[in-house]
Amino acid sequence: MASNWVGELIYEGKAKRVYRVNDELLIMEFKDEVTAFDGARKERAPGKGRLAAAQTVFLMRLLSKYGIRNHLVDWDGDRKILVRGLRMIPIEVIVRNYAYGSFLKRMPLVKPMTRFSKPLVEFHLKSDELHDPLITTDDIIEAGLTRQEQLNEIMGIALRINEILSNYMVSRGLTLVDFKLEFGFDKSGNLVLADEMSGDTMRILINGRHLDKELFRRGASA
Ligand SMILES: Nc1ncnc2c1ncn2[C@@H]1O[C@H](COP(=O)(O)OP(=O)(O)O)[C@@H](O)[C@H]1O
Ligand SMILES: [Mg+2]
Repeated sequence: MASNWVGELIYEGKAKRVYRVNDELLIMEFKDEVTAFDGARKERAPGKGRLAAAQTVFLMRLLSKYGIRNHLVDWDGDRKILVRGLRMIPIEVIVRNYAYGSFLKRMPLVKPMTRFSKPLVEFHLKSDELHDPLITTDDIIEAGLTRQEQLNEIMGIALRINEILSNYMVSRGLTLVDFKLEFGFDKSGNLVLADEMSGDTMRILINGRHLDKELFRRGASA
């Protein structure tokens, strides 16, 4: 199956190449590269692409069991996944359980790793040039990116995903600090979870140590 997947390269991003198969399907190929700071830091990392693909497949299948609609169709067992092509909403949805990362930069009055009284959901515009700035829900509506009801639905889905993942992690002694999601619309206008879920897009701690990309951001080698 996997080797039959062919498509035309339509996009090369920081972490993946995207190929168009037909009107319905795309191939996403995860690169053997680690980047940070909007791509300013970049290094080769053999095995990383397959790991990110495997994590994405595992987590999207887990979410499917709980009825969370997502774009995953198939996996080639290596660096490629087959997904449903969507009209993407150019925002990153971040869910935070503990104070970390860019949250601390904008709100230094909170101590690192403070557990929030409830999970926070925030939105950032996807823009490397602007460094993915924090935006308000009004900004999103006024820019015509979604309608208010759709944004409410996105927040509901993001919080549900947080519950499912947090429970899964806790049962394995892991702490889910924060993670990023992207959504798109299918042809019927349904909201669908897209992109990836991996160590690149989530912060996970085991006994206070990072199981994610944080070490690379701090200067360790891939
Ligand atoms: N199901 C999908 N349909 C269409 N585009 C998608 C889908 N899932 C993810 N994408 C987009 O594909 C690109 C993946 O490549 P990536 O390397 O993550 O890019 P970027 O550097 O822009 O984040 C992103 O722009 C993401 O929004
Ligand atoms: Mg990306």
